[in-house]
Amino acid sequence: MLEIARFLGVPESAVFGVSTFYAQFKFSPVGRHILKVCRGTACHVRGAPRILDEAEKQLGIKAGETTEDLEYSLETIACFGSCALAPVMVHDEDVHGRMTPAKVREILGKAK
Ligand code: FES
Repeated sequence: MLEIARFLGVPESAVFGVSTFYAQFKFSPVGRHILKVCRGTACHVRGAPRILDEAEKQLGIKAGETTEDLEYSLETIACFGSCALAPVMVHDEDVHGRMTPAKVREILGKAK
């Protein structure tokens, strides 16, 4: 961030402010694969907590964490915009709707 601030000629606090505002900027390494579980209202009422529990169990990490081997990062999102498919999980670029804990195991089993 220091180098960026110097390069842009702006205060370090400005770079820090931008980098902490956007979730896309990370301060620690992320996994090669990203698993996102939607926690929006529609997904929540249709079972998202069970989907997140199963993903955490299968990966051995909590939401917001990355596996030690840097294979997976587990994230939650507020609404993916596909509420009709709730509950929704996104594995890298693949969107999976009407998720169940069994489908979480199946998807992660095939990916490993
Ligand atoms: S609440 Fe999950 S996709 Fe909208």
